[in-house]
Amino acid sequence: MSSTVTVKRQNSIDRIDEQLYGHFAEHLGRCIYGGLWVGEDDRVPTEDGIRMDTVELLEELDIPVLRWPGGCFADDYHWKDGIGPREERPTQRNLWWAQGREEAFIEPNDFGTDEFLRLCELLETEPYLAVNVGSSTPEEALDWIEYCNFDEETDLTRRRAENGHSEPYGVKYWGIGNENWGCGGRFAPAEYGDEYRRFANYLRGFRNHLAPEETDAEFIACGHLTDDWNRTFLEQLNAGMEFGPGTFLGMGAPAELMDHFSVHRYYQAGGDTEFSDEQYYRIFARARQLAGDIDRAASTLAEYVPTGEVGIIVDEWGVWHPEATPDNGLEQANTVRDALTAAGAFDIMHDRADVVSMANIAQTVNVLQCLVETDEEAAWKTPTYHVFDLYNDHAGNTAVETDIETETKVFHDEDNDVPLVSASASVTDNDELYVTASNRHLDETRTLEIEAGGEAASASGTVLFADSDPRAYSTKDNAETFEPESIAVEATDDGTFVVEIPPASVVGVTIPQ
Ligand code: AHR
Repeated sequence: MSSTVTVKRQNSIDRIDEQLYGHFAEHLGRCIYGGLWVGEDDRVPTEDGIRMDTVELLEELDIPVLRWPGGCFADDYHWKDGIGPREERPTQRNLWWAQGREEAFIEPNDFGTDEFLRLCELLETEPYLAVNVGSSTPEEALDWIEYCNFDEETDLTRRRAENGHSEPYGVKYWGIGNENWGCGGRFAPAEYGDEYRRFANYLRGFRNHLAPEETDAEFIACGHLTDDWNRTFLEQLNAGMEFGPGTFLGMGAPAELMDHFSVHRYYQAGGDTEFSDEQYYRIFARARQLAGDIDRAASTLAEYVPTGEVGIIVDEWGVWHPEATPDNGLEQANTVRDALTAAGAFDIMHDRADVVSMANIAQTVNVLQCLVETDEEAAWKTPTYHVFDLYNDHAGNTAVETDIETETKVFHDEDNDVPLVSASASVTDNDELYVTASNRHLDETRTLEIEAGGEAASASGTVLFADSDPRAYSTKDNAETFEPESIAVEATDDGTFVVEIPPASVVGVTIPQ
């Protein structure tokens, strides 16, 4: 069977923001403790307590942004507990998640703001901090931004210097709460509108007092998956402007208090490795809900601010299998099927590059759809890691429209059907075309014909999972079997490029100018 991807080079969508390839790391299970931070444990190489085997794998991916400390954890986190001499920091509850291998709901506070920002320096990644709205005050949030970014001498910036960083960190992204309709305080949308306005009003006072100078702090509001919630929140946010100067949201004018609006989307069908063939396909239908989530949020936002003024951030996304529970630190096996859903999610986001400003997969190490797994002595890549690596070549390119002709698996009881080939395309500044595509068919090869619309006479290709079972999952011993291989791309006389994509695999094709 053949499927055709027609690339409409002239129909550009927008620049694909590098931040789409972002990450999320929470104080949850073995993500931070064990995965990124081991302190004095010398079984793995460390720098300032941070485990360097994990860092080295993540460095290869050039990860652009890292969100921290939660998730649900963020709205019960008091950042001052995690600074200063480690032996003086309090040991506390972790209200939400078991941590480390001991299954204890305990937070030792060994990894705090300075450790996180050191990690970001090692990774050369932009930090994204989520402040506590649900159980805290604007004062605590203001103190945090002062500690991180203020360049004049105050008690807090003196403490930062005592803690080893005299220069301001220049943290750009500030999330005002997390899932504040749920674990982040169970606010009704209008209540969160009031809270958001109050927090952002004060944090905004710091926009002009940040260092380094090029850092302009950006604020992120938590959205919901329903229009009703989002609209009520936005209405209420605006309502606060009636009696004072300035425009909070915009109503057609530039937004002052909100730079990004976030949505979260998780999906599952069957278990992590135990799933029927029907469930194998069904998860793609569920993952495609992300497209509707972004479209709905974008159209609701467009009622309040000019298009493009406020970006949509998908700051938690990925597969969440039933095996991952709070008691086991949300650990699950990471399969080839999961990686294929990630490829589809990126195709969806590329097609919406005009509105999506960032995305953060949940979660970087050991938790949910992680990219790196660790034990006490080693760190290794998951299949999803390789999708990030392959798709990362789109970052910074201009997304262009594609027309995909392929068979569809119909699901009458889901919102979406499943096209058996998913793809997206982008063009570099040098007019080089990059196409990524996945064949979701469980056991049939698909001939993919790419109508590239250019002059190129040859192209190169890379394939992932050509010989892997979709149920195969990464372990320390087999991780190398998921490494990419090259694949032949045949050029025809009429400018079409042909690739034979193996079942349940992903390809990346580079077509020069
Ligand atoms: O990523 C795990 C949890 O999922 C996060 O803490 C929360 O924001 C979401 O519900």
